[in-house]
Amino acid sequence: MEQITITRPDDWHLHVRTGAMLKTVIPHTARQFSRAIIMPNLTPPVSTVERAEQYHQEIIQAIPENLNFQPLMTLYLTDSTTVTEIKKAAESPIIFACKLYPAGATTNSDSGVSNISHIAAVLESMQEHDIPLLIHGEITDPECDIFDREKVFVETILAKITADFPALRIVLEHVTTVEAVQFVQDASEKIAATITPQHLMFNRNAILAGGIRPHHYCLPIIKREKHRLAIIAAATSGHSKFFLGTDSAPHLQSRKENSCGCAGCYSAHAAIELYAEVFDDVDKLDNLEAFASFNGADFYGLPRNTEKITLRRNNWIAPEYYLVDNDRLIPLQAGKSISWQLTE
Ligand code: DOR
Ligand code: ZN
Repeated sequence: MEQITITRPDDWHLHVRTGAMLKTVIPHTARQFSRAIIMPNLTPPVSTVERAEQYHQEIIQAIPENLNFQPLMTLYLTDSTTVTEIKKAAESPIIFACKLYPAGATTNSDSGVSNISHIAAVLESMQEHDIPLLIHGEITDPECDIFDREKVFVETILAKITADFPALRIVLEHVTTVEAVQFVQDASEKIAATITPQHLMFNRNAILAGGIRPHHYCLPIIKREKHRLAIIAAATSGHSKFFLGTDSAPHLQSRKENSCGCAGCYSAHAAIELYAEVFDDVDKLDNLEAFASFNGADFYGLPRNTEKITLRRNNWIAPEYYLVDNDRLIPLQAGKSISWQLTE
């Protein structure tokens, strides 16, 4: 296949930040995707409908005029989120989900939930109003090995949430392990998962072999090859429970190339092209449209997009960096060749 035309995709997990960073990254996403679920982990977090409305406005203003793009807002759950706020979210036309960050699990998660028992009433209310719960699935126990944190979360906390709230729609975000894939496959129709490009492209050698590569460091951390193979199989299977969520997470170069670098890979500059490369590598381009354009919309109960995009087999070189004020943003595969290209 030299060319593929698919329904315009959506990104079901995206970080766009604010200010100068937002202005740099939004055009990259809006050129490919029709909609994106916007993650609420700002400081302070987007934990109220009012904050989400303000953030929504800031994003809308940053979208280039010639592009049609809809940000789908989320609320950040904290120990003190109220049932009243969930009711407001259910009535809001701009809010599509709530995000659960276990406190301390990742970037800007300090205000996250310290124990899920604290949000039992909130989860009950989300179940009642059919608001999807998006989960960063890693336990935060400092004794737990960082490579095991997703597996242990799935076996303990996620198993409990799904048992206690059987009608709650849940997206286990950015799955990275055999165990997470298996759990989602075996669970009810209410449970789905997103998959990032970096977890499909790399195993943990890409972070640590031959030197530390901070631009491959994200959370959940990239795992061994057997896990990569399991998520490739899930993503490319066409199975309705698995869909595209880049987790594109821009950080300034100075914050990534640092003695204590931040977690996050920036992939929005070439997201659909990187996924196309992965699907092509395993001869599954035929299933790219289900993964990128159908499964997520169907799960969220939103209409599928009607516009199309075309990708062409063509080598191009990803930029070395993008300017953000006086600093730089280093994209995934900076300076490297990418074998599929979106036609404008
Ligand atoms: O690598 C990550 N970066 N994982 C997350 O969960 C958060 C994200 C960010 O916001 O930078
Ligand atoms: Zn994320």
